[in-house]
Order: sequence, then C-alpha cells, then structure tokens
Amino acid sequence: MNGRFIVFEGGEGVGKSTQSRLLAEALRARGIEVVTTREPGGTPGAEAIRALLLASDGQGWGARAEALLFAAARADHVETLIRPALARGAWVVCDRFLDSSRAYQGGGSGLGDADILDLHRIGSEGLMPDVTILLTLDPSEAAARVLRRDAGALDRIGGRAADYHARVAQAFLRFAADDPARFAVIAASGLPEDVHARVLAAVDAA
Ligand code: TYD
Repeated sequence: MNGRFIVFEGGEGVGKSTQSRLLAEALRARGIEVVTTREPGGTPGAEAIRALLLASDGQGWGARAEALLFAAARADHVETLIRPALARGAWVVCDRFLDSSRAYQGGGSGLGDADILDLHRIGSEGLMPDVTILLTLDPSEAAARVLRRDAGALDRIGGRAADYHARVAQAFLRFAADDPARFAVIAASGLPEDVHARVLAAVDAA
C-alpha cells in the first residue's frame, strides 16, 4: 500500500514548518505513520548540500549550478527517504519540494520551468506530491515573522531582494492556478490553529 505525499510550499515566513508539525500530529492521532521532513535536506547527503547552498560566505552559485544542487539534494532525499516511506505505507509531510525549485530557480532566477522539470525527471524520476498546500501571506507580515524568527540573520536565498521574492510568490500562484487538482491555496494569516484547521480540511478533501 502506498502512503500519501503531502508538501507545504510558500515564501519565507509563511509558517510552513509550524503547519507541517501540526498536520503530522493530527494525522498521527488518527493512527497514521507520518514521516516529517524538509528541503533542501532531510537526509545526511541532502543536508550536506543544504549547507553548501545556504551558507552566507563564499561567492555563491550561478543560477544553473544552484538548480543542479537543489535537484541533487532532492534526488538523494527521494531515493533514500521519501520513496521507501511511501512504499511501506507511511505518509510523508515535507516542508518544500519541487515547486520551490520551480518558483525560486525557475521563477525567481529565470531558468525555464521545463529545465527544472527535466532536472526533476532525471534526479527523482519525476516524483510528484499527492497534495501541495500553498500557504500565502501578505509580504510585510511574512517579513515581520522572519525577522522575529531569525533575528534578521537571512540565508543566501532568503536574503535576496524583494522583487526576487515577489517573482517567487507570483510563480507559486501560477503553478496552483495551472494545477488545481494538486494544489490547495490557503491563507496563512491568523492563529496557527486556525490555519491548521484549514489545512486539515484541504487534506481531507483531496
Ligand atoms: P527553508 O529552510 O525552507 O527556508 P524558510 O524557512 O525561510 O522557508 O529553505 C531555505 C531556502 O531555500 C529558502 O529561501 C527557499 C530556498 N529553496 C530554493 O531556492 N529552491 C528549492 O528547491 C528549495 C527546496 C528551497
């Protein structure tokens, strides 16, 4: 029996990790085995690549090298953690996945969506989430949350200019509009418990 693969997407500070945790707790309370994980990272190999990607020292990566590194991290994550968990019937709740590469490396950095999807086909045999929860939040509220959380210490990608993040947000909304069967777009404003109730309803309806 195959488990379900649920992904949270959205910009910085929208509450993805809090909502991943709350969803996992609710599913576990129903007796479901749930694996929570995140990208970039989730396995030792992918976490090593994460450190390369997000460190704020050094010269940084060109757009193409960056896209390849995200795809490589995802390949290891999919092969060694996500697919085995789904195969044994566990549900996987993941903080970010392919649509982040499509939005940040494709939408934000300007590589084509087709190229990002090709990398995913090669790296991860095109594995797609069953449900993708896109959390949306007013940019100024998201920026205030990030400031509270990280005390102003932004990573290499989080620290990019506001227009970069605006392109990312637009790209996410475009993907959701193009594929409504896979996406649920959920307003992330308000109390975490209220957002969680909306998330759970969307998962149950999918
Ligand atoms: P994450 O740790 O989820 O940051 P946050 O909690 O701020 O959302 O992700 C780290 C950064 O990596 C974030 O700025 C988004 C970026 N990212 C990409 O650019 N491409 C990707 O494929 C993924 C998974 C993340």
